[in-house]
Order: sequence, then C-alpha cells, then structure tokens
Amino acid sequence: MMKSSFLRTLLLVAIMAFAGRTTCAADNGGGTFTAGKKTFLLNGKPFVVKAAELHYPRIPRPYWEHRIKMCRALGMNTICLYVFWNIHEQREGEFNFTGQNDIAAFCRLAQKNGMYVIVRPGPYVCAEWEMGGLPWWLLKKKDIHLREQDPYFMDRVSKFMAKVGEQLAPLTIQNGGPIIMVQVENEYGSYGEDKAYVSAIRDIVRQSGFDKVTLFQCDWASNFTRNGLDDLVWTMNFGTGSDIDSQFSRLRELRPESPLMCSEFWSGWFDKWGARHETRPASAMVAGIDEMLSKGISFSLYMTHGGTSFGHWAGANSPGFAPDVTSYDYDAPINEYGQATPKYYELRRTMEKYSDKRLPSVPKPATELISIPRFSLNEYAPLVFGTDSMCVARSPLTFEELDMGWGTVIYSTSLPEINTPSTLAMKDAHDYAMVYVDGRYIGRTDRVRNETTVSLPPVSRGSRLDIVVEGMGRINFGRAIKDFKGLTGEVTIMANVDGDDVTWKLNDWTMRTLPDSYDHALRAFKRFNDGESMGLKLDSRAGYYRGFFNLKKTGDTFINMETWGKGLVYVNGHAIGRFWSIGPQQTLYVPGCWLKKGRNEIVVLDVAGPVMAETWGQDRPELDKLQTEKSNRHNNPGDRPDLNSATPAAAGQFAQGRAWQTVKFNAPARGRYLAIECSSTHDGSEIAAIAEIYVQDTDGRRIDRSSWSTKYADSEDADNGNHTGDKAFDLQESTWWSTTYGASMPHLLVIDMGAEQTIGALEYLPATGQDAAGLTKDYRIFVY
Ligand code: GLA
Repeated sequence: MMKSSFLRTLLLVAIMAFAGRTTCAADNGGGTFTAGKKTFLLNGKPFVVKAAELHYPRIPRPYWEHRIKMCRALGMNTICLYVFWNIHEQREGEFNFTGQNDIAAFCRLAQKNGMYVIVRPGPYVCAEWEMGGLPWWLLKKKDIHLREQDPYFMDRVSKFMAKVGEQLAPLTIQNGGPIIMVQVENEYGSYGEDKAYVSAIRDIVRQSGFDKVTLFQCDWASNFTRNGLDDLVWTMNFGTGSDIDSQFSRLRELRPESPLMCSEFWSGWFDKWGARHETRPASAMVAGIDEMLSKGISFSLYMTHGGTSFGHWAGANSPGFAPDVTSYDYDAPINEYGQATPKYYELRRTMEKYSDKRLPSVPKPATELISIPRFSLNEYAPLVFGTDSMCVARSPLTFEELDMGWGTVIYSTSLPEINTPSTLAMKDAHDYAMVYVDGRYIGRTDRVRNETTVSLPPVSRGSRLDIVVEGMGRINFGRAIKDFKGLTGEVTIMANVDGDDVTWKLNDWTMRTLPDSYDHALRAFKRFNDGESMGLKLDSRAGYYRGFFNLKKTGDTFINMETWGKGLVYVNGHAIGRFWSIGPQQTLYVPGCWLKKGRNEIVVLDVAGPVMAETWGQDRPELDKLQTEKSNRHNNPGDRPDLNSATPAAAGQFAQGRAWQTVKFNAPARGRYLAIECSSTHDGSEIAAIAEIYVQDTDGRRIDRSSWSTKYADSEDADNGNHTGDKAFDLQESTWWSTTYGASMPHLLVIDMGAEQTIGALEYLPATGQDAAGLTKDYRIFVY
C-alpha cells in the first residue's frame, strides 16, 4: 500500500515537473487569439506576432527542437509553417503523419519551447516546393483544373484537409494548443481571381476542425483585393527593402481598424540552377523589422531558417522553367545547417529592443562540422539496371501516365532511314533529355535553356533511338503548376531530302521507368552484379555509383559534387538532394544525424555521367560556383535590334514613385518582340531597373507571359544579385532586372513574347526596394 501511494506521488511530481517545463502562455487549457482594433489580441491583450517561418520537411527531425530554440533566442514568439500536402499523401489515399512528417509533434515541440504556431495548410503552398505542395498524382486526371473548383481537386483537398484537422485541430489555442492562426490558400491573387474557390477552401478549412481559430489570407499589396473575403484577416507579403507604409496603405484605406501583419517578410531569396546565389543585405532586413515593430506591425520572417529541399522536393519557377536548387539556405538569418549568421546577430540586437525579457542565449550548434577525405565510388551499375517497368505505346507517355511521380524514363523507338543529317525535335521534353542513337550519345535538350532540338547524323533504317528524360521539380508558381514530366508532346525528325523538307513523326515507343528511390538504386547494383541482361546498352557513364567512407565521429558535412554530372544522392538511404554540375550549388548538405560512426554508404544516381566518380566531405558549403557552358547574359550584339528608324509604339516619361503605371498606346502595335528603352531616370543614376512588365491586348486584358524570354539586354547585373532580364516578367514583384553600375544610358531590354501579339497598353512596375536605383523617366517602347 505504502509503496504504491509513494509511487503515485512520485509519478504526480514527475508529471508536474514535466508540465512546468512545457508551460508557455498558450498552454493554459484554452485561450483566444483574435483580430482586435489595430492589434491582434491574445487572450484579450494586445499582441504583436513575431513569427519565424520554418519548414519541418526541410529540417531533419532530430534538429527540429534546436531550430525552434534558435528562433526563440532570436526574439521570435511564433513559428509559422506550411503543411506540404504532397509529402503526406505521396500516393492517393495513403496518408503519413509520422516520423519526419509528424506535424503535430512539431507543433508540440514549438509549444514546449514557449512558441505559438501559425499553420498554412494550403492546399497550395508555393514555397519552392515540388508542384507548390500539390501531389503529382492529381495530374493523372489530365484535364484537372488545379486550384479551381474542379470536383475531383476539391474532393481530394477536403480529404487531405480533414487529415490535417485530425492532426492539428486539437492543437489550436482554443483547445489549449499553440496554434493561433490558420491560413486559407496561399497568395491566390498572383494565380487568379476566384472568390468562390477561395471561399470554398475557407469552408473546407473550417469544416476540418479549424472553426474557432482565426483564419487569414495572404497576398501582395497590388492584388489582395482580387480575392479578399470579408470574414478573413488580410495580411501582406513583401520583402526586405520594401517601403512598409506603402505596402499597407491600401489595406489601411479599406480596413482602417485591421491589425497589420506582413505574413512573409522575405529575408533573402531562393536559388535556381544556372544562376548566381541570391543574397539580401542584413541592414535592409533589420531596418524593415525595426520599422514594423516600432509601429506595432506583426510579421513572419520568411525564411528565418530555410534548411534543405531534400530528395526530389525542390520545385521550379516559371515563366520559362527555372528549377530550384537543393539548398534552401535563402540567405536567412539561420543558415541551411542551423547556425547563426552575422544577419542573425544583427537582427537579434534589434529584436532585443522590443522584448520585455532578456532573450535566451543562442543555443550551441546541434552538431559540429566535419570533413571527410576524398574517396572513390567504385561500385557501378548502368542506368538501365534501375528500371522498374516497361510499357509500349504508340505515342510517348508522360511520367504521370506511366504512374511514376519522380525519376527518369528511357523512351526507345526505331528510326526510319535518313541519309542526310536531320533534326530531332522534342517540343515538350520535361526536363532534361539525353539522346542516343544505337547506344551512342548524340546530344541533349535542356528545358531550362528552352532547347527543343538535337542534330542527328545520317541514320539507317531500324537504328535505335533512346531518349533518357530526367524530370526535375514540378513548377510551383503561377499557372504553369500543371507541369507534366517526360516526353509530353510528339517527337519528330525533320530533314531536307533532295531539296524537299520532310517530317517524320516517331511512333511505337517502349518506355522504361526509373523511379527516384534508394531501393531502385540497390536493385540496380544487385541486378548488375548478378549479370542480368536488360536488353539495352547505352554507351555512357550514366548510372548508379556506390562508395563507402568511415567516420570516427559524426557531424554535419557538405558532400562535394563538382566532378559529377546531374542527378541525386543518397547517404545511408537518406535522400540528400539533387546536384547539377552547372551550379551554383556544388555541395550537398549531409546532416550529421544521418551519419554514423564507422562505415557509411553513399549512392549517387548520375543521369549524365561523372567526369570522376569521387567525392569528399567539406566543412563548409559551396553555394555560389557556376560552371555554365554559356553566360546567362543576353548582350549578344547580333540580338540588338536597330531601332534608329523604328517608330515607337509609345514614348514619354514614367511618373516618379514605385507604384504600377500603365502606358496606353495611341494605336495597337503588333509584333513578337517588345523593346523597352530607358534613357533617363528620376534618381539621376545611369541604372535602369524594372520589377515587372505586363502587356495588355486591345481590350485591356493582360497577355499571358508564360512563353516570354529575354532576347536582349544591353546590361544585366548578374554579379551583385540575380538582376537578369527575366526578372522583369518572373511574376515576382520583389525581384527586378537591373543594369550594372558603369553601363551608360540608354538601356534596352528586349523581350521575345514567343509569338506575335497585338498590344494596346503596357503596365510597368519599377524596382520596389526602397534603396533600389533605376526609376526610369524617359522611355520608348517598340513592338516589332
Ligand atoms: C511567395 C510564396 C512563398 C514563397 C515565396 C518566395 O511569397 O507565398 O511560398 O514561394 O514567395 O520564396
């Protein structure tokens, strides 16, 4: 008796001690968080949200708590997170919220560390994440309307949201948990105008258990009214360097009593393959946060810690196709591997001013950094040994039709006799297609470069054509998110035979799928070692490589991939991410928690083939080393139009200021190319800069920009940031084309619109950063 009551007391003491440790303001068995007059109210008292955006799949679970503590020591009081639908439902109807996907555990960890949580469950999240978080299998319904009231889409959204509700609704503040707000959709204004759809998503979110918690929607200052719902809180997204008062001015007019919040204050920016690493100055970020806090404005710092888009989860941007690199460092205050940067300490000093308590001390790194001496990956299996299934069809099938989410497909067919050199055309090969004739490598097309053709030598009847198509991340932004992979259009050969242009359409394809998975890599080694015959031989170094390294102690490291071609890495079975020799990222972050003392395994799938099959671990990342074959500038003199005798479609002066302006043409102008000449600025500088350009048809409707590319720019500042020509039509108001210091006026940007258009007006947004130069005054616009 005595003994059991003693045990009970002990248990009670233990429980109380545990509860004491986990106590935070939210952990009180039920509270409230609402939008009051010009301020948020937490349990009825004014509250400024200082949120840190973190993404649980981008941080290995053993490091979750460390990163949360890092945010707390930065002076944040909230963690803001997206829920990534496609990581939880990788196959239709199969949900996984365990382990690395245990969002409820993540939220409880935040609460344990005294943090509130804002949840952004999508269904679409953008976030430089494969398909913006939508599952690829939605595309098995070919005519699906994503992010619209397509019955199948909405049905799947409801099912997913119900599962999110099961996980997280018990953790809202009303139920004693840390969740103070939940977001409805994501920046729908930059996708379309459809209040009925956004309302339907709101209702689904409510029905999923988020019926008491405060709901909000986020957008840009320029478009939030398009889909603004009366019963939701409205927040704005904008980046470092923005003029904060002007970002909120329209909201203040429409809802003078609303609390203000910047729900994504971009600390830095993401990187794409083939372009310089992005950075943003700490001073501008800190000044922005200082200003917001001095005015009682809530914010979420996107990203406070970006982490890594492990495996195949990095997405791609559009217009054009701009796949994102694996690192999601984002130039954030906490770097990719969880350490405090100078930006962190600078921000912390400012945050301290607005904290009534001393900030907790900055946690030590979760693990040390280690290097690993150079070693070879000696085991090899050719690509074809990783194939999963084989399928035959008259026309090439997409990955989705072949029921494969991510990976590579080898498309094979036989060729007609063509006695002269010819051109193989694959209009829509997504994304990187390597062409072989009778096993010999001939050439490739790269979607990033808009390449669509490969020159073929003369071929004899029955020669085998193999096209190895690797899919990269699906587009995560804009209308192009419906991004099928593989050969998505027809394949033709064109040649001039005896003076006649002849076109052959290639039919009767055999398709072998190679899904991205560690198990397929293992199977490839086994089959190859067992001497199996795959009936296909490609003369190439592409394939699977395996090597081992020994460690006396574990720690975070960065595997160097500079001598490799293009593909994916697995370490001890963990999908580490994509590499591509063009850079700028040349190393891949390998978290120490996935390494072990003793023997560790690395498997590399290289679809292009390495120069040398070796690697090493270094103790710092290389995120900014380009090895592109061609420069990414567009100043080839041959592309510069002669405008001397051309008549401009419009000419005049832009008004001063950083707001959108529209120039109506006197008469509609028709042509494929749009040239904007800037010959003076309001700020007296020699720099021209443009954040966004749209053109309207004669009815005032914006013309689709999805096939736009930069034809010519006399100058592009690609050294001090990625201010290349495409930034003028990348759908992102916070990035811009800029000329370099030293290049003199007039400046010229020429856009290839992909097809002839009839244009009635042009919309122009100057660079929005407060300190950005380049406010154009005198302009001339040509269409030709
Ligand atoms: C938008 C999106 C985010 C992210 C950022 C850019 O604001 O809402 O998901 O894509 O852009 O990093």
